[in-house]
Order: sequence, then structure tokens, then C-alpha cells
Amino acid sequence: MKKILIVDGGPRRNMNTAALCDAFEEGARGVSPEIGVERVRLYDLPPFRGCISCLACKLKGRETGLCAVRDSLADTLRAANGADGLAIASPIYFSEWTAMTRAFLERLVFPWLSYETFSCSAPKKMPLAWIYTMNAPESMMPGIRQHLSILEGAVARALGDPAPAFVEAHSTVQVKDYSRYAMDGLDPAAHLAWREAHWDADLAAARAAGRAMAEKALAAKR
Ligand SMILES: Cc1cc2nc3c(=O)[nH]c(=O)nc-3n(C[C@H](O)[C@H](O)[C@H](O)COP(=O)(O)O)c2cc1C
Repeated sequence: MKKILIVDGGPRRNMNTAALCDAFEEGARGVSPEIGVERVRLYDLPPFRGCISCLACKLKGRETGLCAVRDSLADTLRAANGADGLAIASPIYFSEWTAMTRAFLERLVFPWLSYETFSCSAPKKMPLAWIYTMNAPESMMPGIRQHLSILEGAVARALGDPAPAFVEAHSTVQVKDYSRYAMDGLDPAAHLAWREAHWDADLAAARAAGRAMAEKALAAKR
């Protein structure tokens, strides 16, 4: 059995990010009964924090690659380190991940980073996928990517995936009924039209990325 972990860092259960996670999961599960998918919704966990700089992960002889803090995120970090594929999903908030996704990433990556060699290496190699949803159109992605790329690159290098998958849904529909909200500056009609034209393709891209990850996980040496 190969395990794929989807970490959903979006706070809303039934909106854009969750839907792409559903599609990714469907794609992965469809490949083989040998693929198991675990889903963690970070906002459903009891409150946790980002890295608290305890530096326990840097104690000589105790560098396990795993965050030492035993709180509600510990099981998810353990699962991420032991998975056969990792998908990290987040809506874009202020050009970055949500706060809980950022907290998860700090505690995932800092234990992988050596302050002796400055290499960043996870204990186990696995394929990686990023799933993002955002108000911004595709044309704004290069600016947003500047905020994401340092950590994205560190995770990819650490996991040994030279070509992680990126699933990005742009110009998402942020609320079900725009008429109830003071949001006219967003041009709701344009978002609704974009969704009509592109959402099925976004879901298909998420399904394809899930399939591809499952195939890579199955192809990896046991
Ligand atoms: C606090 C907050 C900050 C946001 N910042 C951005 C942003 O910087 N860029 C962007 O494109 N969208 C931004 N958005 C919009 C969300 O990324 C977008 O609506 C996303 O699809 C929501 O995902 P969800 O439907 O899964 O909750 C922001 C939304 C919120 C609530």
C-alpha cells in the first residue's frame, strides 16, 4: 500500500480549495486499490502554532528530521514525513499561504534544514504537489510566486522531487452570492464567467495531478 497525504490548509470546508483536494484525491484513488489517501484539514485540528524556535531539532545527535513539539500537528508532521506522496493545498492569502499552512510548512521544513551544511533534506523522498486557489488572475502569478518560491523550492529539494506538480485555480468565485457582499471592486461577473469557462479544467488538472502522483508513488522502489 502506498500512502498519499493531502494537507488542506484552507479554512472553508466546501469551497474552492477543498473541491480541488477532492478532485486530487479522486484522481489518486482511481489509479489503484494499492493507493491509500489520507486527508488532513489543518483548520479542523485543535489550535497549533508554527515553529517556536525551541531548536530541539538541532540538538547534536538528535537530528531526526521531525519537529519535536508534541501538539495537535505532530501526527500530521509524522504522516507527511512517512508518506509516499505529499500534496499541500492552500488558498492564497496576501500573496502567500494561509497562516495554518505556513505554520505547517515551518515545522515541516525547519527540522530538514541543517545548520551545519545548509542542506535541506527530508528523511524520505516522495513526489510533491502544490494546490492553490486565488482571486488573482493567472497574469498575477509571477508576482505571487515570488512570495512562495523560496519555501516551495526548499520542500521540493528536500523531498527530491525535481518537478513538483502545481495545480492553480485563478479568479475563483469567493462567495456563493456576490449580491450580499460589498465586493463590486472584484468584478463578480468576470469571476463568474471565468469559473463557467475554466472550473472544469481546474478540477481535471487536479485529478490529473492526483493520478500522476499515485503513479509515481507506485513506481517508486518499495
Ligand atoms: C484573508 C484573505 C486574504 C486573501 N488574499 C488574497 C491574495 O493576496 N491574492 C488573491 O489572489 N486572493 C486572495 N484571497 C482570496 C482567496 O485566495 C480566494 O478566494 C480563494 O479561492 C479562497 O479559497 P476557498 O474558497 O477554498 O476558501 C484572500 C482571501 C482572504 C479571506
